[in-house]
Amino acid sequence: MFPETRMRRNRRSEPLRRLARETSLSADDLILPIFVLEGQNKRWEIPSMPGVCQVSVDRIGEELDGFKGAAVLLFGVPDEGQKDAKASAALDDKGLVCRAVERIKRDSPQLVVITDVCLCAYTYHGHCGIISEDGSIDNDATLPLLARMAVIHGEAGADMVAPSAMMDGQIGAIRDGLDYRGLTETAVMSYAAKFASSFYGPFRDAAGSTPDFGDRKSYQLPPGNRREAIRDALLDEDEGADWLMVKPALPFLDVLCELKEETRLPVAAYQVSGEYAMLKHAAECGALNERDAVLESLLSIKRAGADAIITYYAKQVSKWLET
Ligand code: PBG
Repeated sequence: MFPETRMRRNRRSEPLRRLARETSLSADDLILPIFVLEGQNKRWEIPSMPGVCQVSVDRIGEELDGFKGAAVLLFGVPDEGQKDAKASAALDDKGLVCRAVERIKRDSPQLVVITDVCLCAYTYHGHCGIISEDGSIDNDATLPLLARMAVIHGEAGADMVAPSAMMDGQIGAIRDGLDYRGLTETAVMSYAAKFASSFYGPFRDAAGSTPDFGDRKSYQLPPGNRREAIRDALLDEDEGADWLMVKPALPFLDVLCELKEETRLPVAAYQVSGEYAMLKHAAECGALNERDAVLESLLSIKRAGADAIITYYAKQVSKWLET
């Protein structure tokens, strides 16, 4: 008890604080999302995400230049004209994401390459699954498409596929599909606890994946339900996931913390587009010190249990950590 006990003794100087530090960030924790466009010589900034660009495959190198982190997560952004009811462009083994994987594996072999597996950017309606005649999302008919998408990414050389469609059974279907094609080394990072969040807005602008009717509440998790999220995530572990992810990150740190206790798989967290936009815009108008606020947000995500963090700040942070 005070006055014998004094918490401030361990906080007295920077070296003492460093010695007692429980959590620290490292470049090895960072996964950089990259949006890949069709065509040549394109590099377009996303208006709602200043500093984040969509690039054509030939210019991916510019996104990776100076990035010291561990991994990239690729999203295909097809042309409007390529979208259809069956997400055909997602299933083309010469398609956008496959070409991007090959390119990165050739030019930056030290990077772990992860690919997003979901139909929403490739369907004309923008939903993550295919639509049945009654207008609902057809879970079971979507599974073979997701499995096929994962297989072509694996064959192109992706180290990991990251299914984000929130269809029941998708992890099992993808694991079976990969194994059947001999892709036994391709890992699956499940967007296991993915909430129906309003923080995906800027991403949907970027990926052109805003659903043109309804919303994603019939497949993504309700933000108020922690137990349901843990249950859903643990099913993905049973189906063969190698990693589990919680998304978004900061609004769901309690879920991340609990999931970390419940599983022995490594756990990732996704600091999503809306979280990036909040930090970026606040920093741009002078309300926050960008570097301090970003590092604190990532440290908090790590403290809550994340082994890896997907963040649009990954490149910037990997540079900050060097200085
Ligand atoms: C695709 C997908 C989404 C995100 C990642 N994969 C959007 C969504 O579900 O609407 C969001 C990422 C972000 O906001 O940064 N299903």
